[in-house]
Amino acid sequence: MHLIAPSILSADFANLQTACEMLNKSEADWFHIDVMDGVFVPNISFGMPVIKAIRKHSTKIFDVHLMIVEPDKYIAAFKTAGADVLTVHYEACTHLHRTIQAIKAEGMKAGVSLNPHTNVNVLEDIIVDLDLVLIMSVNPGFGGQSFIENTYHKIEQLKKLIHLKNSKALIEIDGGVTLANAKKLIDTGANVLVAGSYVFNSENPIETIKNLKNI
Ligand code: DX5
Ligand code: ZN
Repeated sequence: MHLIAPSILSADFANLQTACEMLNKSEADWFHIDVMDGVFVPNISFGMPVIKAIRKHSTKIFDVHLMIVEPDKYIAAFKTAGADVLTVHYEACTHLHRTIQAIKAEGMKAGVSLNPHTNVNVLEDIIVDLDLVLIMSVNPGFGGQSFIENTYHKIEQLKKLIHLKNSKALIEIDGGVTLANAKKLIDTGANVLVAGSYVFNSENPIETIKNLKNI
């Protein structure tokens, strides 16, 4: 059974409590939370105070996607703010093994995200330590972009690597996910689908989440 993780990035930032309450009622499994620093990606979103504020209104697992440089500095702070799953970018971590251990030491699930140009084989020597691999299916930084088709190939490669190394890592897909590609993504091997604009810009987000969940 696959998981659905709506992304807060496309919610109405003036009404985040309403977004949380909608998600609480929905079939969403996780709440995907995109943190951007304006350095690793060409956009700035929000940080720990916002996560802390919405934590008290949400019953869902907080899946925090860090698009920031030097994530090691803030691991404990994100735990305190309410993160359950913490994902860092491969491209932002010089000492990735240390970063992953630090996330786990704080009692969170540890994920690594790959930009569209990064080959999954770079994870060969870390995959057994990971709870999650997040494949970016758009270039990180913005919601509402179109899906990159090469993602299916990356899922296949990653699935092989996970089996080969006996890893328990989940495969999460982030960017441009809609009902038009969700089934193929799951059939190819995705375990978690992030959806931002497709959920929050729809007329009935609860229904849209239900449709993504029941494919
Ligand atoms: C992009 C973010 C995504 C974004 C996805 O950098 O990591 O999580 O919210 O948005 P959609 O689903 O609209 O592509
Ligand atoms: Zn994301």
